[in-house]
Amino acid sequence: MSQHLISPSILTADFLHLEREIGMVNQSEADLLHLDIMDGHFVPNLTFGFTVIRQIKSISEKPLDVHLMITNPDRYLEAYRDAGADWLTVHYETCPHLHRTIQQIGELGMKPAVSLNPHTEVSLLEPILKELNMVLVMTVNPGFGGQQFIEASYAKIRKLRKMIDETGAGTLIQVDGGVTEANIGDLLSAGVDVFVVGNTIFAADKPLQVISNLKKA
Ligand code: DX5
Ligand code: ZN
Repeated sequence: MSQHLISPSILTADFLHLEREIGMVNQSEADLLHLDIMDGHFVPNLTFGFTVIRQIKSISEKPLDVHLMITNPDRYLEAYRDAGADWLTVHYETCPHLHRTIQQIGELGMKPAVSLNPHTEVSLLEPILKELNMVLVMTVNPGFGGQQFIEASYAKIRKLRKMIDETGAGTLIQVDGGVTEANIGDLLSAGVDVFVVGNTIFAADKPLQVISNLKKA
């Protein structure tokens, strides 16, 4: 049986009833809780800051999987740890000293991950693969929930799967964007370990059932 993880993204949750939405995730078979942090510079959208993360942390029973879509993330690594991040993902495109950034995330006690935009080649991560808990392959252009999955992602995922298996790095592969009950099977076959799922869960009438279906895929 597959050991894949589900990380619901609250980007399209009902923010007027956030406590109820996080309570739903707590009750569900989900493994993580995915928080999208956007700064209006690296991506054309803004989300929320440290106060909101801290409050979410105080009620979440799932580890926080924090996805930073911000320029110069190095300035804030400690602040995200203090706010409650357990897993911390930075974008390759925002980190000129990526090896150092990854080491600092690990030293702060979080699990380090790197995200690649759709146009960024997976082989760029080969020299630091063993240092990474996870690689996030963006399957949409980051910035918004509910976008269409980019089909060219399959080739990148298969290439990354091969690289990880050959090096014995044990790094997890995460996908984010456009994941549905219809494509999760193909993504599993391509070698994905961790699924970020936003709209498919939060726009559903029975989100608990959807999470259960995704978990059983
Ligand atoms: C997009 C975010 C995603 C987003 C995914 O920039 O990183 O986490 O919430 O949402 P869906 O699953 O709706 O495509
Ligand atoms: Zn995300």
